[in-house]
Amino acid sequence: MCGIVGYIGKKDAYPILIKGLKRLEYRGYDSAGVALINTDNQLNVYKAKGKVSELEGFAEQKDTTGTIGIAHTRWATHGEPCSANAHPHYSSTETLALIHNGIIENYATLKEKLQAKGYEFKSSTDTEVLVQLIEYIKVTNNLDLLSAVQLALREVIGAYAIAVLEKGHPDQIIAARKSSPLVVGIGEDEFFLASDATPIVEYTDKVVYLKDEEIAVIDRNQDLKVVNLHNIEVTPEVKTVTLNLGQLEKGGYPHFMLKEIFEQPDCINDCMRGRVNVEGTNVVLSAVIDHKERLLKAKRFIFVACGTSWHAALIGKQLIESFCRIPVEVEYASEFRYRDPVINEDDVVIAISQSGETADTLAAVELARSRGAFIYGICNAIGSSIPRATDTGSYIHVGPEIGVASTKAFTGQVTVLTMLALTLAKEKSSITEEHYLEIVQEMNRIPEKMKKVLKLNDKIAELSKIFTYAHNFIYLGRGYSYPVALEGALKLKEISYIHAEGYPAAEMKHGPIALIDSEMPVVVIATHNALYEKVLSNIQEIKARKGRVIAVVNEGDTVISKIADYCIELPETLECLDPLITTVPLQILAYHVAVCKGLDVDQPRNLAKSVTVE
Ligand code: G6P
Repeated sequence: MCGIVGYIGKKDAYPILIKGLKRLEYRGYDSAGVALINTDNQLNVYKAKGKVSELEGFAEQKDTTGTIGIAHTRWATHGEPCSANAHPHYSSTETLALIHNGIIENYATLKEKLQAKGYEFKSSTDTEVLVQLIEYIKVTNNLDLLSAVQLALREVIGAYAIAVLEKGHPDQIIAARKSSPLVVGIGEDEFFLASDATPIVEYTDKVVYLKDEEIAVIDRNQDLKVVNLHNIEVTPEVKTVTLNLGQLEKGGYPHFMLKEIFEQPDCINDCMRGRVNVEGTNVVLSAVIDHKERLLKAKRFIFVACGTSWHAALIGKQLIESFCRIPVEVEYASEFRYRDPVINEDDVVIAISQSGETADTLAAVELARSRGAFIYGICNAIGSSIPRATDTGSYIHVGPEIGVASTKAFTGQVTVLTMLALTLAKEKSSITEEHYLEIVQEMNRIPEKMKKVLKLNDKIAELSKIFTYAHNFIYLGRGYSYPVALEGALKLKEISYIHAEGYPAAEMKHGPIALIDSEMPVVVIATHNALYEKVLSNIQEIKARKGRVIAVVNEGDTVISKIADYCIELPETLECLDPLITTVPLQILAYHVAVCKGLDVDQPRNLAKSVTVE
């Protein structure tokens, strides 16, 4: 979703801003723009629809000098993707330029008010309303920019991360946030600004995450100053970020998505490091131990999440119910937040989010907190908003995920959920010692087994060529494999634009079976587990209707290999850990189908990595 970059210092701002925008491309966007103040104190704004490279082309012959600037990648909410709607937006007199992430919900009322005063608008965006409002307040009250921004933001309902430049003021950027993340990087005689730390880490590891309703006054000649909307100064908390540049680059892979799929064995090791002992006798999630009493007295767990994280939650439900015998509900955060749900004080709400910034998940957390529930976060992005809004939690530690389609974050989430369920079950004595040890020992073998799955990459690439014709796919699985079927279908539709449905295998006969004919590929997860025979019957039903079965089976399966059209053979593991193995070939399949179709795998159309609007 929209990205923000800012720079003020001694260097040329433009190349830093462009590089920063490219680092943020993974968030998903449809247009880009930049504003710079040159040495003659001119405020220049350049914008273009499409990729950052289009913006570079557009700005090639223009004046891009200046040591202060702000830049933006836009993901359309109000108004189509086009250069007029792209940010930065000028105010009427072109004295101010502003970039914005989030949504100004009362923009229509504010716009009418400004139109009545004679203001005209060049775009359909809510953002232009904000910059005009700031200018109006500034001019009518004869205020400096900071005071005008403070007053304007007090009128705004909604979410924002903004940065503003003023013509004739080449020493200062004013930036503010509410519900949309914003990070200030502190270098030697220079400052950086960004919507996440990604564009900043190559210059400095010292950052300040602005909090809601805080405004940063970033002045090239002074220390960073942070004030709130009422001008009360706040001491900025400087944190050290640990991201390294290698994690943000493709490292020889053609796409981030493929790199991230292949990183999974290492990611799972990183995720388990210090938590699962090497002897395979113990799992400790420190957050669980630290809050043991509160977690053990919970009568119910409620997961809130979106997208892929919601699929991980479905697996978490099965793990916790089976090992801990605690009832678990899984909620779409976007529904939960508006449903007036029943939340009790002894409930534990677990928010799962790769980015830690998903607006709906964050709002669900805030609702649950207001009703007295204990909140546990399972996130990837360190220091993001959700971990900061929770009582405790566990990071998945899989490193930055850049590809829009989530891969390693999913397997990291499932790994943390397994460790959470096991730590709790041991504390609760709801699991036998034998079963516990069997699982812990097998967890240590998962990375090696994943490596074996990755060796199927070429074979799956060949298989995917057969299916680029398809307009529809069905994915089936039961038990732990049902969420995997949903995730496999989601991966395919996200990046290949092929319609795909995930279904519990036994439900197929209640509807989807009507779709099956000789054109329909059906991916069936049919590894050895308690329901193997039943899934086998489902495969027979599909074959009887001439569907084309791609079966995901265990190595040496001689039964299904005779019936299915194609088999992907995987190493066997315990049923409760199977999603960590079976998800991987489905990620690879989706990847290669999209590559065969010549699509933009890392930045699929219309999607955003970090969904900071509801
Ligand atoms: C977007 C992403 C998905 C992700 C979902 C939830 O839709 O494209 O990949 O699963 O948001 O994101 P989160 O960061 O909360 O896990």
